[in-house]
Amino acid sequence: MCGIVGYVGTRQAAPILLSALSRLEYRGYDSAGIAVRDGAELAEVVKATGKLANLSMKVDGGKALKGFCGIGHTRWATHGEPSTTNAHPHVSGNCLGSGCGPVESDVVGVHNGIIENYQELKEKLLKHDYRFYSNTDTEVVIKLIDYYYKKYKLGPIDAINRTLVRVRGTYALEVMFKDYPDEIYVARKDAPIIIGTSAGESFIASDVPAIINYTQSVYYIDNLELARICAGSVHFYDLNGDEVPKEPTKVELSPQAAEKEGFEHFMMKEIHEQPRVVKDTLHSAIKDGSIHIDIDDEFLKKLSRIYIVGCGSAYHAGVVGQYVIERLTDVPVRVELASEFRYRKMPLAKDSLVILVSQSGETADTLAALRAAKEKSLFTYAIVNVVGSSIAREADSVFYTMAGPEIAVATTKAYSAQLIALYLLAIKLGTVRGSITDPKELVDEMETIPEKIEAILKERDRIQWFAAKFAHIKDAFFIGRGIDYASCLEGSLKMKEISYVHSEAYAAGELKHGTISLIEDGTLVIGVNTQDELFEKTLSNLVEVGSRGAYLAAITENGRYSMEDSVNFTVYTPRINEIFSASLTVIPMQLLGYYFAVARGLDVDKPRNLAKSVTVE
Ligand code: AGP
Repeated sequence: MCGIVGYVGTRQAAPILLSALSRLEYRGYDSAGIAVRDGAELAEVVKATGKLANLSMKVDGGKALKGFCGIGHTRWATHGEPSTTNAHPHVSGNCLGSGCGPVESDVVGVHNGIIENYQELKEKLLKHDYRFYSNTDTEVVIKLIDYYYKKYKLGPIDAINRTLVRVRGTYALEVMFKDYPDEIYVARKDAPIIIGTSAGESFIASDVPAIINYTQSVYYIDNLELARICAGSVHFYDLNGDEVPKEPTKVELSPQAAEKEGFEHFMMKEIHEQPRVVKDTLHSAIKDGSIHIDIDDEFLKKLSRIYIVGCGSAYHAGVVGQYVIERLTDVPVRVELASEFRYRKMPLAKDSLVILVSQSGETADTLAALRAAKEKSLFTYAIVNVVGSSIAREADSVFYTMAGPEIAVATTKAYSAQLIALYLLAIKLGTVRGSITDPKELVDEMETIPEKIEAILKERDRIQWFAAKFAHIKDAFFIGRGIDYASCLEGSLKMKEISYVHSEAYAAGELKHGTISLIEDGTLVIGVNTQDELFEKTLSNLVEVGSRGAYLAAITENGRYSMEDSVNFTVYTPRINEIFSASLTVIPMQLLGYYFAVARGLDVDKPRNLAKSVTVE
C-alpha cells in the first residue's frame, strides 16, 4: 500500500506535497518522491529512500523546487527493492540514477496498487524500443501511457484509457503530461483516490488526512473512472472518454480520525483490511491459475523435512502451517521459536527447507535463526511483509505478504497474510509431490476466505458486548485441538498483549494433565472447535471445565448449533474447508482482544512494554 498526493493551484506545490505526504506516511515509508513543474517547464523529479524526512531535506522543505503543479508518492514496495531508482515518480524517458533533476520525458506519474501483467506489457514496450531503468510495475504503466499518447495523438484521457484496457491489477494512478502544464490526470481501480478543491486550488490524495487541512470539499472518483484536474476544477470521464458529472461532498472527519479512516485505532482498521490483504496476498502468487513461489520444484520433490521458525504471532502462523502442510503433504514439519532455534544443537537434515516467518523482516532472533540455517547450508525461505528488510534480503528465497504497513503493535492482517503464504506453500508442495491432484479446488476455497472474514466482522457488536461483560477478569483459557489449538495460540496472545489479561492457549486434551486445577467458578474458557474428527472431543473438554465452574464461550462453524446446548456464548464462523479454518477463527479472537483492551481503557495500538519490531535479543 502506498500513498499518492497531487496539487495544482496558486501556491508553490512542493511544500504542500510534502505536507500531504507526511499525513500518508503510515501507508508506506521505504522511499518517497515528488515531481513539480513550473508552467511549460519540464517536471523536476526528486526522490529519496527511507523516511519522508530524507526527501524533505533534499529539497529544503520544498523551497528548492519551483512550480504550481506537482505529484508525490510515499512507497511501500511490492515490486522492486526500496531504492531511489525504484521510488516514484516514474517517467516515460530515463530517470537519473540519483532520482533527481529535470527529466526529458513527456509523461511523469505515480501509482498505488499492483499491475499483475506488467511483465507482458514490458515485453511489448521493449519491442517498441523502450528501455527501463527500474524493476517496478509502475514504470511500465507510465511508459505504456506514453506509448499510446504518441501513437494515437488523441490526448491524455485517450492515452490513459487505452492503457487501462491493457492493464490487469489495481491502480490509483496520477499522471502529468509535458504538453499539458497545470493539469494532473488520475485513474482509479480498487485503490483509493480522493480529489479536493477550493478557490483556485485542487488537491489529490490516497486518503482524506492528506488534504483535510486544505479543504473539506472532496470528490470520490469511482472505479474505472478518470479525472482531469486543473486549479480549482475537476472533470471526470469513463473509460470511453465520456464526461461523467459529479458533485463534491463535505468531509466531516477530523484529520486524526481520517488517518484511521474513521476507525478509533489502527488495530481495528487493520482487522478490517484483512479481506483485501488476504485477496492481494493470494493473488500475488496465483498466475494463470497456478501457484508461483520462488522454490524449485525439483527441490520440493526431494525435500525430507521442513522447519518453520518465527517469534510471537509469526511463530503461531508457523504452527498453523505445520498442521496444514502435514495434512496436505507427506513432509514432516517442525516449528521452532527463533530464540530457541538459534541456540539449539539440533541435527538438521541436509535436504531441509527452513522457513522464516516475520512481518517486519527485522526481528533479531529470526534473523539470527536465518543465519544459523544458512551456516548449515540449508535452503531458507522467508515469508516477510517488508520489502527489502534484512530477513528478505538474506534469505535464499522470499515470499512477500501483501499486508501493507502494519501500524498497530498487535499484528492482525500480517498474521492472516502469513497463513495464506503457508497455505500456498503447502498446496504447491503437495501438488509437486503428488499428494494433491486438484490444487485448483483448494485455491478456489481460499478465494472464499475474504468474504467469510467480512461476514465475521459483521458480528463485532456481539463480541464487543461479550468483552464488556468479561473485561474485569484476570485469567482466560483458549482451548482447541489440531488447527484449532494452533489458532488458540494467536487468540491468547492477542488477549494478553493488548488487554493485559493473563491467558493461556492449551491443547484441549492436555488440560486434565494439571492445568485444569486452575479452573474455578467464573473462569473464562474459550473453545475453538471446527475440526470434524475432533469436534466431540473438544466439546467434552469444554463440558469438563464447565462442570468445574468455567464460563464457556465457543468459536465454531455455522451449523454446529448443538454447541449452544453446552456453552454459554457462541460465535459462528462461515463453513470452510477445515484446513483453512484458522483464517476465520482468529477473527473473533482478534476482535475479543481488541474489545477487552478498549473496555479496560488501554492504549490498543501501543501496548505497554512492547515494540512493533523486536530488533534486539
Ligand atoms: C504480535 O502481535 C506481536 N506484535 C509479536 O508477537 C510479533 O508477532 C513478533 O514480535 C514477531 O515479529 P515479526 O513478525 O516482525 O518478526
